[in-house]
Amino acid sequence: MYYPDEIVEEVRNRNNIVDLIGSYVKLTKRGSSYVGLCPFHNERTPSFHVSADKQMYYCFGCGEGGNIYTFLMNYENQTFPEAIRTLADRAGITLPEKEMTAQEKKERSRRTQLLEIQKEAAKFFVYCLHGAEGKQAALYLQKRRLTAETIAHFGLGYAPKNSRSLYTYLRKKGYRDDLLKESGLFTYDEKRGFTCKFWNRVMFPIMNQANKVIGFGGRVMGDGKPKYLNSPETILFDKSSNLYGLNYARSSRKPYLILCEGYMDVIAMHQAGFTNAVASLGTAMTPKHAILIKRFVNEVRLAYDSDEAGVKAAMRAISILNHGQIRSRVINMKPHKDPDEFISNLGTEAFQKRIDDALSSFMFEVSVKHGQYRQNDPDERASFLRHTAVMLLRFPEEAERQVYIEAISREYGIDARSLQDMVRNMSARMTERDIENYNSREDVRIIQPEKIHYPPSVNSLLISERRILTLLSEDSSLIRRVNGILSPEDFEDPMCRKIAEKMFASVSDPAGFSPAKILDSFEEAEEQKEAAAVFHEKSSDEMTEEEIEKSLTESIIRIKQIKLEKLIRDAKSAQDMQMIIKLKKELENFTLPA
Ligand code: CTP
Ligand code: MN
Repeated sequence: MYYPDEIVEEVRNRNNIVDLIGSYVKLTKRGSSYVGLCPFHNERTPSFHVSADKQMYYCFGCGEGGNIYTFLMNYENQTFPEAIRTLADRAGITLPEKEMTAQEKKERSRRTQLLEIQKEAAKFFVYCLHGAEGKQAALYLQKRRLTAETIAHFGLGYAPKNSRSLYTYLRKKGYRDDLLKESGLFTYDEKRGFTCKFWNRVMFPIMNQANKVIGFGGRVMGDGKPKYLNSPETILFDKSSNLYGLNYARSSRKPYLILCEGYMDVIAMHQAGFTNAVASLGTAMTPKHAILIKRFVNEVRLAYDSDEAGVKAAMRAISILNHGQIRSRVINMKPHKDPDEFISNLGTEAFQKRIDDALSSFMFEVSVKHGQYRQNDPDERASFLRHTAVMLLRFPEEAERQVYIEAISREYGIDARSLQDMVRNMSARMTERDIENYNSREDVRIIQPEKIHYPPSVNSLLISERRILTLLSEDSSLIRRVNGILSPEDFEDPMCRKIAEKMFASVSDPAGFSPAKILDSFEEAEEQKEAAAVFHEKSSDEMTEEEIEKSLTESIIRIKQIKLEKLIRDAKSAQDMQMIIKLKKELENFTLPA
């Protein structure tokens, strides 16, 4: 819908930017403008200014700025027509509708009524959950560790055993049978009349991105089949172009969405603070989903199940996302099945680490391929290489391709030169069309999820860093030997880095080194605690000299290797590549000097 300039102007004039932004951000008057904490970046002291005179906002911290329209578009991710409608509503302005045909009018009012029906049904299910009948369902949700707040936030409910009661309820509200038939909530037959499809199930209302209920998923409480029952497709409910949780995720202000498989995963993630999680609705990801996602973000992290079906679904999703120009990474869920179970068992922080460590979708695909071929059979290994080479042809830029060749060569012990030759060879022999076909070919081979190599977790890096510092603290002659091989900047963990600085500095201190002294140099009790932990990784008390030597060398190599991997991931120029090659050589021949 196109709105003429006068309307845009009028809607702008009739809204006050201070009121609008004030409903999202706490603003305080200062001089001629209002200030508050910027909603577009994290800050502790306010640098976000809203001017009533100019009807504009600007942040001196991050440079975001604009008017009421851009605010809603940036903060709420609304499109311009959505923003103008929101603001017209706020000001009580009725926007001109383009002349509708009789058919359109009819459709529209039917659509409106169907939306009302879904909303009423959702209210009914919530009501039942909180009544006497809903006891078991409430207990079930409690057992799944959902808080009352989460249950309310997602509008969870309960469909009672009596499959006539929803019908009676909606009839009393005045909805006609023909509409109820179309709502997707009922089955109808001559003998029994209307019965609700959902019966003794926990109900998950599905909302579209505008917060309107368009359908339901219902789960059995226990092991009955089917586990989930979903509303059929209706004129409201198109599974291929809606995502569960998007109504909340759209304003999470994260640069990526987390895409998962299930309702419960989305809910568990939101409850744990990952409010950018969404799920497709009991169907595979579609190109329409990709278009929808692209409206909000350019990157997706996949949190699919860790079983074979999940890996297959992830492979398909990656390909669709690639076509939609959306970058993707894959989150390692092992040893758990899905995000819900992961978070229940290992907690939020561990999950955040997995998100941070997510594997680039390309390396994930290579890894899946690798697991599909018997690597000790020469023919199969050659097929794997050929396939990998074709996949590499997707990268039009030589430098980018080279980065991945290096990474693959390191990960799978393949000679980089021969992989490169293979890529050249394939590129000469295949047309763009061939490559496209080859890359999008469905693979019939079995996927073995346990063979996927995810990058070492940040956790294991932390352990290596701490181990080195512990060993050094127990034998100060080691400090001198390691000084120069590692520098404090090589330590990722901020605490380890600080301690390394102090330790290496002590080499030139006549008073020498003392762990206790290092602890004293931290003022905060919390910091002291953390520093103490660093010195207590795994003591060398029971180790032979050789074992200490070995443990130290391995930990150093690990740190350097992870650093190298980072470099490879971020490499941009030929210079970067040279640096990488140099570091790689060093690492291959690494021994600790005496
Ligand atoms: N699903 C479905 N119909 C089924 C099974 C699954 O529509 N019979 C959809 C649902 O959207 C479900 C998702 O697929 O959320 C993932 O299914 P699954 O992994 O089996 O369930 P979980 O999400 O793990 O659900 P729960 O934790 O409740 O077992
Ligand atoms: Mn689950």
